[in-house]
Amino acid sequence: MKTCESAIQLREKGEVVVNDSTLKYLGSVHLQKGVVGPHFEVVKEGLLRTVEKGVGEKWSEEMKGAWSEAYDQLAAAIQAEMNKLEAAEINNNKETAEKEAAVEIHS
Ligand code: HEM
Repeated sequence: MKTCESAIQLREKGEVVVNDSTLKYLGSVHLQKGVVGPHFEVVKEGLLRTVEKGVGEKWSEEMKGAWSEAYDQLAAAIQAEMNKLEAAEINNNKETAEKEAAVEIHS
């Protein structure tokens, strides 16, 4: 699971690194599925509660912070990619509409 990998990276390197093509892919999957900003908060809550239940006694504020930060970094990176893709799509649609309008005017 991506967030799990991120939590490990965060612990080992102090930052989360996801390669560009994975990020582009994740951005496009979530955009296509209609995921929006507030969904990320709900999923975060669910993830934290699930990990808390899973680790039981070992759960601590520190662990919560690490999972939280790993998730936030990943979520921010995915959302940034979604925004880029969305902007490109809007731009593309606008260009297509302009081209179609130009064809109509000239025909
Ligand atoms: C850091 C946050 C998240 C990560 C790392 C993540 C990761 C992933 C991954 C790895 C996939 C599988 C992509 C594939 O190979 O098809 C996926 C799919 C998906 N995710 Fe997320 N996700 C995140 C947040 C969210 C949120 C907030 C939602 C909205 C509730 C969401 C909804 C979905 C949906 C609907 C799919 C497609 C499932 C399917 O078609 O089988 N994800 N996500």
